[in-house]
Amino acid sequence: MRVIVSIGGSVLAPNLEADRVDAHANVIDGLVDDGHEVAAVVGGGGVARRYIGTARVLGATEYDLDALGIDVTRLNARLLITALESSATPEPAESHEAARASLRRGEVAVMGGTIPGHTTDAVAALLAEMAGADVLIYATSVPGVFSADPNAEADAERYDELSAGDLVDVISSIETAAGSNAPVDLLAAKIIERSGLRAVVLDGSDPSRIADAVEGDARGTEVLPNE
Ligand code: UTP
Repeated sequence: MRVIVSIGGSVLAPNLEADRVDAHANVIDGLVDDGHEVAAVVGGGGVARRYIGTARVLGATEYDLDALGIDVTRLNARLLITALESSATPEPAESHEAARASLRRGEVAVMGGTIPGHTTDAVAALLAEMAGADVLIYATSVPGVFSADPNAEADAERYDELSAGDLVDVISSIETAAGSNAPVDLLAAKIIERSGLRAVVLDGSDPSRIADAVEGDARGTEVLPNE
């Protein structure tokens, strides 16, 4: 299968722990050993937020804050590349075209962000769409998509399965609530919907769940194309 894995920065290396990066690399290596084609998109997490917070105080524009965030995602991508045993392109892909070329050479492609104005959630959805992925996995810091932000509302319920159209509706209502944090952003949800991708949103704190989801045991929220 062709698999795109989106790994949030707060899941890959919240405090730059080598063993967590290694654990994610081992799962990707295992998928490659099992014959899957894999690309990973890595987020910036708390480290990116700290840089952005400081630069905002210093007066940076939103565009430049995004550029700073992209730099951090690429640093995280480099960490993952360093930990991979399988044949990975040694530099983070800076464009979707570069990532696709890596996949065509039979290499693992790792990328961070691309351009200001969105997040790596959308980058991963676009890569999955472009590459014709069989599955797109979001390894996040929450165990799936909930009816509301589970950190803000105690009665939020997790969906085991959602249509892509329902994902768009749920994410837009979460994003409308001030201060809420959606597990996948709205642009990514819309790309998932238009492309008919199969996606899984899961808790990436145990990276073995990524491999389980590829094998069909999706412990999280499974997003299915609209009927
Ligand atoms: P993330 O994808 O990690 O953003 O990119 P996030 O969703 O805010 O963080 P997580 O999910 O908690 O890890 C970090 C920042 O980099 C910029 C944005 O500012 C984003 O918030 N970025 C990233 C871009 O501008 N373009 C991209 O393609 C990717």
